Amino acid sequence: MVPGHFGARITGVGHYVPDHVMRNADFEKMFETSDDWIVSRTGMRERRYAEPHQAASDLATIAAQHALERAGLHGRDIDCFIVATVTPDYQFPATACIVAANLGAVGRAAFDLEIACSGFIYALSTAASFIRAGIFARVMVIGAEKLSGITNMTDRGTAILFGDGAGAVIVERTELDSDSFLACELGSDGSNPDMLCVKAGGSRNPITPELIDTHKNKMFMSGREIFKYAVNKMVETSKNVIATAGLTTDDISWVIPHQANRRIIEAAAKRLDVDREKVVINIEKYGNTSSATIPIALSEMIEKDAMKAGDLILFTGFGGGLSWGSIAWRWSA
Ligand code: UT7
Repeated sequence: MVPGHFGARITGVGHYVPDHVMRNADFEKMFETSDDWIVSRTGMRERRYAEPHQAASDLATIAAQHALERAGLHGRDIDCFIVATVTPDYQFPATACIVAANLGAVGRAAFDLEIACSGFIYALSTAASFIRAGIFARVMVIGAEKLSGITNMTDRGTAILFGDGAGAVIVERTELDSDSFLACELGSDGSNPDMLCVKAGGSRNPITPELIDTHKNKMFMSGREIFKYAVNKMVETSKNVIATAGLTTDDISWVIPHQANRRIIEAAAKRLDVDREKVVINIEKYGNTSSATIPIALSEMIEKDAMKAGDLILFTGFGGGLSWGSIAWRWSA
Protein backbone atom coordinates (compact mmCIF):
# COMPACT_ATOMS: atom_id res chain seq x y z
CA MET A 1 0.00 0.00 0.00
CA VAL A 2 1.55 3.31 -1.09
CA PRO A 3 0.72 6.33 1.10
CA GLY A 4 -1.04 9.24 -0.61
CA HIS A 5 -0.89 12.88 0.45
CA PHE A 6 -3.21 12.54 3.42
CA GLY A 7 -3.87 10.14 6.26
CA ALA A 8 -7.23 8.74 7.39
CA ARG A 9 -8.55 8.36 10.92
CA ILE A 10 -11.86 7.44 12.56
CA THR A 11 -13.48 10.34 14.39
CA GLY A 12 -16.95 9.01 15.20
CA VAL A 13 -18.48 5.57 15.73
CA GLY A 14 -22.10 4.60 16.38
CA HIS A 15 -24.42 1.65 16.25
CA TYR A 16 -28.04 0.64 16.49
CA VAL A 17 -29.72 -2.68 17.18
CA PRO A 18 -33.50 -3.13 17.18
CA ASP A 19 -35.32 -3.74 20.48
CA HIS A 20 -36.87 -7.10 19.62
CA VAL A 21 -34.74 -9.84 21.21
CA MET A 22 -34.88 -13.30 19.62
CA ARG A 23 -33.58 -15.87 22.14
CA ASN A 24 -32.38 -19.42 21.51
CA ALA A 25 -35.47 -20.67 23.36
CA ASP A 26 -37.64 -19.01 20.69
CA PHE A 27 -36.15 -21.36 18.08
CA GLU A 28 -36.89 -24.40 20.28
CA LYS A 29 -40.57 -23.69 19.55
CA MET A 30 -39.96 -23.58 15.77
CA PHE A 31 -37.85 -26.69 15.04
CA GLU A 32 -35.76 -29.33 16.76
CA THR A 33 -32.89 -27.50 18.39
CA SER A 34 -31.71 -26.53 21.86
CA ASP A 35 -30.11 -23.64 23.68
CA ASP A 36 -27.21 -25.99 24.52
CA TRP A 37 -26.57 -26.86 20.87
CA ILE A 38 -26.70 -23.27 19.71
CA VAL A 39 -24.47 -21.92 22.49
CA SER A 40 -21.89 -24.70 22.20
CA ARG A 41 -21.71 -24.72 18.36
CA THR A 42 -21.95 -20.94 17.74
CA GLY A 43 -21.58 -18.95 21.00
CA MET A 44 -24.90 -17.21 20.27
CA ARG A 45 -27.60 -16.65 22.91
CA GLU A 46 -29.65 -13.81 21.44
CA ARG A 47 -29.99 -11.76 18.30
CA ARG A 48 -32.11 -8.71 17.44
CA TYR A 49 -34.87 -8.57 14.82
CA ALA A 50 -36.04 -5.36 13.19
CA GLU A 51 -39.76 -4.51 13.09
CA PRO A 52 -41.58 -5.25 9.82
CA HIS A 53 -41.68 -1.55 8.92
CA GLN A 54 -37.93 -1.05 9.47
CA ALA A 55 -35.64 -1.32 6.44
CA ALA A 56 -31.83 -1.33 6.27
CA SER A 57 -31.74 2.45 5.71
CA ASP A 58 -33.68 3.02 8.95
CA LEU A 59 -31.16 1.02 10.97
CA ALA A 60 -28.27 2.67 9.11
CA THR A 61 -29.62 6.17 9.68
CA ILE A 62 -29.84 5.73 13.46
CA ALA A 63 -26.32 4.26 13.64
CA ALA A 64 -24.98 7.14 11.49
CA GLN A 65 -26.75 9.76 13.66
CA HIS A 66 -25.08 8.19 16.68
CA ALA A 67 -21.66 8.44 14.98
CA LEU A 68 -22.30 12.07 13.96
CA GLU A 69 -23.26 12.99 17.54
CA ARG A 70 -20.10 11.41 18.90
CA ALA A 71 -18.00 13.30 16.32
CA GLY A 72 -19.89 16.58 16.85
CA LEU A 73 -20.81 16.72 13.15
CA HIS A 74 -23.93 17.08 10.98
CA GLY A 75 -24.93 15.00 7.97
CA ARG A 76 -23.92 17.79 5.60
CA ASP A 77 -20.36 17.66 6.95
CA ILE A 78 -19.97 14.26 5.29
CA ASP A 79 -18.74 14.16 1.66
CA CYS A 80 -19.57 10.56 0.86
CA PHE A 81 -21.76 7.79 2.31
CA ILE A 82 -20.94 4.12 1.76
CA VAL A 83 -23.41 1.50 2.95
CA ALA A 84 -22.21 -2.11 3.00
CA THR A 85 -25.27 -4.35 2.90
CA VAL A 86 -26.78 -7.49 1.39
CA THR A 87 -30.24 -6.40 2.50
CA PRO A 88 -30.73 -3.04 0.77
CA ASP A 89 -34.10 -1.30 0.94
CA TYR A 90 -34.56 -1.83 -2.81
CA GLN A 91 -32.70 -3.60 -5.61
CA PHE A 92 -32.00 0.03 -6.54
CA PRO A 93 -31.66 2.92 -5.71
CA ALA A 94 -28.76 2.49 -3.34
CA THR A 95 -29.61 2.47 0.36
CA ALA A 96 -26.75 4.96 0.90
CA CYS A 97 -28.64 7.62 -1.12
CA ILE A 98 -31.63 7.23 1.20
CA VAL A 99 -29.44 7.41 4.32
CA ALA A 100 -27.72 10.57 3.05
CA ALA A 101 -31.12 12.18 2.39
CA ASN A 102 -32.37 11.12 5.86
CA LEU A 103 -29.34 12.88 7.36
CA GLY A 104 -29.92 16.11 5.44
CA ALA A 105 -27.03 15.46 3.05
CA VAL A 106 -28.81 15.51 -0.34
CA GLY A 107 -26.20 16.25 -3.01
CA ARG A 108 -23.39 14.27 -1.38
CA ALA A 109 -21.84 11.18 -2.96
CA ALA A 110 -23.48 7.93 -1.84
CA PHE A 111 -23.27 4.31 -2.92
CA ASP A 112 -23.76 0.76 -1.65
CA LEU A 113 -21.09 -1.88 -1.52
CA GLU A 114 -22.17 -5.53 -1.61
CA ILE A 115 -19.62 -8.09 -0.52
CA ALA A 116 -21.60 -9.81 2.23
CA CYS A 117 -19.93 -10.26 5.62
CA SER A 118 -16.66 -8.75 4.34
CA GLY A 119 -18.57 -5.56 3.55
CA PHE A 120 -17.27 -3.40 6.38
CA ILE A 121 -13.63 -4.35 5.71
CA TYR A 122 -14.00 -3.52 2.00
CA ALA A 123 -15.93 -0.30 2.71
CA LEU A 124 -13.46 0.97 5.32
CA SER A 125 -10.57 0.27 2.91
CA THR A 126 -12.43 2.14 0.15
CA ALA A 127 -13.20 5.11 2.40
CA ALA A 128 -9.63 5.38 3.70
CA SER A 129 -8.31 5.16 0.12
CA PHE A 130 -10.63 7.96 -1.07
CA ILE A 131 -9.35 10.11 1.78
CA ARG A 132 -5.68 9.34 1.24
CA ALA A 133 -6.09 10.20 -2.44
CA GLY A 134 -7.56 13.57 -1.51
CA ILE A 135 -10.96 12.88 -3.12
CA PHE A 136 -13.02 13.30 0.05
CA ALA A 137 -12.30 14.77 3.49
CA ARG A 138 -15.00 12.84 5.40
CA VAL A 139 -16.62 9.53 4.53
CA MET A 140 -19.38 7.78 6.48
CA VAL A 141 -18.97 3.99 6.36
CA ILE A 142 -22.00 1.99 7.46
CA GLY A 143 -22.62 -1.74 7.73
CA ALA A 144 -26.39 -2.27 7.94
CA GLU A 145 -28.41 -5.45 7.67
CA LYS A 146 -31.94 -6.71 8.08
CA LEU A 147 -30.99 -10.37 7.73
CA SER A 148 -34.19 -11.57 9.42
CA GLY A 149 -35.89 -10.69 6.12
CA ILE A 150 -33.79 -13.16 4.11
CA THR A 151 -33.50 -15.91 6.75
CA ASN A 152 -35.13 -19.28 6.01
CA MET A 153 -37.01 -19.85 9.27
CA THR A 154 -37.59 -23.52 8.38
CA ASP A 155 -33.85 -24.30 8.16
CA ARG A 156 -32.40 -24.87 11.63
CA GLY A 157 -28.85 -24.85 10.21
CA THR A 158 -29.06 -21.15 9.28
CA ALA A 159 -32.11 -19.65 11.04
CA ILE A 160 -30.35 -19.48 14.40
CA LEU A 161 -27.32 -17.62 13.10
CA PHE A 162 -28.44 -14.25 11.84
CA GLY A 163 -29.66 -10.97 13.31
CA ASP A 164 -30.30 -7.35 12.37
CA GLY A 165 -28.34 -4.20 13.20
CA ALA A 166 -26.13 -1.41 11.95
CA GLY A 167 -22.79 0.16 12.79
CA ALA A 168 -21.28 3.37 11.41
CA VAL A 169 -17.87 5.01 11.41
CA ILE A 170 -16.80 8.44 10.18
CA VAL A 171 -13.43 8.34 8.45
CA GLU A 172 -11.74 11.70 8.26
CA ARG A 173 -8.69 13.32 6.65
CA THR A 174 -5.64 13.78 8.87
CA GLU A 175 -1.94 14.51 8.47
CA LEU A 176 0.00 11.79 6.68
CA ASP A 177 2.17 11.13 9.74
CA SER A 178 -0.89 10.30 11.87
CA ASP A 179 -2.46 7.96 9.30
CA SER A 180 -4.45 5.13 10.93
CA PHE A 181 -4.73 2.96 7.81
CA LEU A 182 -1.55 0.88 8.05
CA ALA A 183 -2.34 -1.99 5.71
CA CYS A 184 -5.15 -3.99 4.18
CA GLU A 185 -5.57 -7.20 2.22
CA LEU A 186 -8.79 -8.10 0.41
CA GLY A 187 -9.63 -11.27 -1.50
CA SER A 188 -12.36 -13.34 -3.11
CA ASP A 189 -13.16 -16.70 -4.67
CA GLY A 190 -16.34 -16.74 -6.74
CA SER A 191 -15.81 -20.20 -8.23
CA ASN A 192 -18.60 -21.65 -6.07
CA PRO A 193 -21.05 -18.82 -5.30
CA ASP A 194 -23.73 -21.27 -4.11
CA MET A 195 -21.81 -21.98 -0.89
CA LEU A 196 -23.37 -18.94 0.74
CA CYS A 197 -26.04 -17.14 -1.22
CA VAL A 198 -29.61 -16.07 -1.85
CA LYS A 199 -30.28 -17.97 -5.08
CA ALA A 200 -33.39 -16.21 -6.36
CA GLY A 201 -34.15 -12.59 -7.07
CA GLY A 202 -31.15 -11.59 -9.18
CA SER A 203 -30.65 -11.82 -12.96
CA ARG A 204 -29.53 -15.48 -12.72
CA ASN A 205 -32.80 -16.72 -11.22
CA PRO A 206 -35.53 -14.09 -11.42
CA ILE A 207 -38.09 -14.55 -8.70
CA THR A 208 -41.01 -16.97 -9.35
CA PRO A 209 -43.72 -18.33 -7.02
CA GLU A 210 -42.01 -21.73 -7.17
CA LEU A 211 -38.66 -20.29 -6.06
CA ILE A 212 -40.41 -18.55 -3.18
CA ASP A 213 -42.20 -21.78 -2.18
CA THR A 214 -38.83 -23.57 -1.99
CA HIS A 215 -37.22 -20.71 0.03
CA LYS A 216 -34.75 -19.85 -2.75
CA ASN A 217 -35.34 -16.17 -1.95
CA LYS A 218 -33.73 -16.81 1.46
CA MET A 219 -30.16 -17.46 2.56
CA PHE A 220 -28.53 -20.81 1.93
CA MET A 221 -25.17 -21.78 3.43
CA SER A 222 -22.82 -24.79 3.38
CA GLY A 223 -21.70 -24.02 6.92
CA ARG A 224 -19.17 -26.76 7.48
CA GLU A 225 -17.13 -26.00 4.32
CA ILE A 226 -17.16 -22.28 5.01
CA PHE A 227 -15.99 -22.77 8.59
CA LYS A 228 -12.55 -24.06 7.59
CA TYR A 229 -12.16 -21.54 4.79
CA ALA A 230 -13.05 -18.70 7.20
CA VAL A 231 -10.41 -19.63 9.76
CA ASN A 232 -7.70 -20.09 7.11
CA LYS A 233 -8.36 -16.82 5.29
CA MET A 234 -8.75 -14.72 8.43
CA VAL A 235 -5.44 -16.03 9.77
CA GLU A 236 -3.59 -15.69 6.46
CA THR A 237 -4.71 -12.10 5.73
CA SER A 238 -4.24 -11.05 9.35
CA LYS A 239 -0.63 -12.23 9.33
CA ASN A 240 -0.04 -10.50 5.99
CA VAL A 241 -1.39 -7.08 7.03
CA ILE A 242 0.52 -7.13 10.30
CA ALA A 243 3.72 -7.97 8.40
CA THR A 244 3.00 -5.32 5.72
CA ALA A 245 2.64 -2.77 8.52
CA GLY A 246 6.10 -3.78 9.75
CA LEU A 247 4.68 -5.18 13.01
CA THR A 248 4.23 -8.53 14.72
CA THR A 249 1.17 -10.13 16.31
CA ASP A 250 2.62 -9.15 19.73
CA ASP A 251 1.92 -5.53 18.76
CA ILE A 252 -1.83 -6.15 18.38
CA SER A 253 -3.95 -4.37 21.00
CA TRP A 254 -7.36 -5.56 19.77
CA VAL A 255 -8.68 -8.02 17.24
CA ILE A 256 -12.16 -7.04 16.08
CA PRO A 257 -13.27 -9.97 13.95
CA HIS A 258 -16.46 -10.59 12.01
CA GLN A 259 -18.84 -12.38 14.38
CA ALA A 260 -19.98 -15.50 12.49
CA ASN A 261 -19.20 -18.19 15.05
CA ARG A 262 -17.37 -18.06 18.37
CA ARG A 263 -15.47 -21.21 17.44
CA ILE A 264 -14.21 -19.61 14.20
CA ILE A 265 -13.00 -16.55 16.12
CA GLU A 266 -11.30 -18.61 18.83
CA ALA A 267 -9.64 -20.94 16.31
CA ALA A 268 -8.30 -17.95 14.35
CA ALA A 269 -7.07 -16.19 17.52
CA LYS A 270 -5.30 -19.35 18.65
CA ARG A 271 -3.51 -19.73 15.31
CA LEU A 272 -2.53 -16.06 15.42
CA ASP A 273 -1.29 -16.59 18.98
CA VAL A 274 -3.22 -13.56 20.26
CA ASP A 275 -4.38 -13.48 23.90
CA ARG A 276 -8.10 -14.13 24.33
CA GLU A 277 -8.55 -10.81 26.26
CA LYS A 278 -7.53 -8.89 23.14
CA VAL A 279 -10.22 -10.50 20.99
CA VAL A 280 -13.53 -8.65 20.92
CA ILE A 281 -16.53 -11.00 20.94
CA ASN A 282 -20.15 -9.90 21.30
CA ILE A 283 -21.72 -12.72 19.28
CA GLU A 284 -23.74 -13.93 22.28
CA LYS A 285 -25.91 -10.77 22.10
CA TYR A 286 -26.39 -10.14 18.38
CA GLY A 287 -25.48 -13.28 16.40
CA ASN A 288 -24.18 -12.68 12.89
CA THR A 289 -25.26 -9.29 11.49
CA SER A 290 -22.99 -9.63 8.43
CA SER A 291 -21.46 -6.26 7.45
CA ALA A 292 -22.60 -4.73 10.76
CA THR A 293 -20.77 -7.03 13.20
CA ILE A 294 -17.41 -5.23 13.17
CA PRO A 295 -18.65 -1.62 13.48
CA ILE A 296 -21.14 -2.63 16.19
CA ALA A 297 -18.31 -4.29 18.16
CA LEU A 298 -16.07 -1.24 17.64
CA SER A 299 -18.85 1.09 18.80
CA GLU A 300 -19.34 -0.96 21.98
CA MET A 301 -15.60 -0.75 22.63
CA ILE A 302 -15.77 3.05 22.35
CA GLU A 303 -18.74 3.09 24.77
CA LYS A 304 -16.63 1.17 27.27
CA ASP A 305 -13.77 3.62 26.68
CA ALA A 306 -11.56 0.62 25.93
CA MET A 307 -9.75 2.10 22.94
CA LYS A 308 -6.62 4.16 23.62
CA ALA A 309 -4.67 6.39 21.23
CA GLY A 310 -1.95 4.34 19.58
CA ASP A 311 -3.73 0.99 19.97
CA LEU A 312 -3.19 -1.37 17.04
CA ILE A 313 -6.49 -2.83 15.87
CA LEU A 314 -6.78 -5.80 13.58
CA PHE A 315 -10.11 -5.90 11.72
CA THR A 316 -10.67 -9.24 10.00
CA GLY A 317 -13.66 -10.71 8.23
CA PHE A 318 -14.99 -13.36 5.94
CA GLY A 319 -18.22 -14.09 4.10
CA GLY A 320 -20.23 -14.81 0.97
CA GLY A 321 -18.51 -14.52 -2.38
CA LEU A 322 -16.58 -16.16 -0.97
CA SER A 323 -14.77 -13.03 0.21
CA TRP A 324 -12.42 -12.00 2.97
CA GLY A 325 -10.16 -9.24 4.19
CA SER A 326 -8.15 -7.77 7.05
CA ILE A 327 -7.03 -4.27 8.00
CA ALA A 328 -4.29 -3.13 10.39
CA TRP A 329 -5.52 0.16 11.91
CA ARG A 330 -3.73 2.45 14.38
CA TRP A 331 -6.29 4.05 16.70
CA SER A 332 -5.99 7.80 17.16
CA ALA A 333 -8.19 9.46 19.76
O1 UT7 B 1 -20.78 -14.87 8.13
C1 UT7 B 1 -20.62 -15.59 6.95
C2 UT7 B 1 -19.82 -16.79 7.09
N1 UT7 B 1 -20.51 -17.80 7.83
C3 UT7 B 1 -19.85 -18.64 8.55
O2 UT7 B 1 -18.66 -18.47 8.63
C4 UT7 B 1 -20.55 -19.79 9.20
C5 UT7 B 1 -19.62 -20.95 9.22
N2 UT7 B 1 -20.19 -22.18 9.73
C6 UT7 B 1 -20.59 -22.36 11.00
O3 UT7 B 1 -20.56 -21.46 11.80
C7 UT7 B 1 -21.01 -23.74 11.41
O4 UT7 B 1 -20.71 -24.64 10.38
C8 UT7 B 1 -22.52 -23.86 11.78
C9 UT7 B 1 -22.79 -23.14 13.09
C10 UT7 B 1 -23.36 -23.26 10.67
C11 UT7 B 1 -22.90 -25.31 11.97
O5 UT7 B 1 -22.08 -25.91 12.97
P1 UT7 B 1 -21.36 -27.31 12.68
O6 UT7 B 1 -20.71 -27.69 13.94
O7 UT7 B 1 -20.52 -27.12 11.47
O8 UT7 B 1 -22.58 -28.26 12.43
P2 UT7 B 1 -22.88 -29.14 11.15
O9 UT7 B 1 -23.45 -28.29 10.05
O10 UT7 B 1 -21.70 -29.99 10.83
O11 UT7 B 1 -24.05 -30.05 11.70
C12 UT7 B 1 -23.82 -31.00 12.76
C13 UT7 B 1 -25.16 -31.60 13.17
C14 UT7 B 1 -26.00 -32.04 11.98
O12 UT7 B 1 -26.69 -33.22 12.39
P3 UT7 B 1 -26.16 -34.66 11.91
O13 UT7 B 1 -26.17 -34.63 10.42
O14 UT7 B 1 -24.79 -34.79 12.48
O15 UT7 B 1 -27.17 -35.59 12.52
C15 UT7 B 1 -27.00 -30.93 11.82
O16 UT7 B 1 -28.21 -31.36 11.24
O17 UT7 B 1 -25.91 -30.58 13.84
C16 UT7 B 1 -27.22 -30.50 13.26
N3 UT7 B 1 -27.71 -29.14 13.39
C17 UT7 B 1 -28.42 -28.71 14.44
N4 UT7 B 1 -28.82 -29.34 15.56
C18 UT7 B 1 -29.51 -28.62 16.47
C19 UT7 B 1 -27.57 -28.10 12.52
N5 UT7 B 1 -28.19 -27.02 12.99
C20 UT7 B 1 -28.72 -27.37 14.20
C21 UT7 B 1 -29.47 -26.68 15.17
N6 UT7 B 1 -29.84 -27.36 16.28
N7 UT7 B 1 -29.82 -25.39 15.03
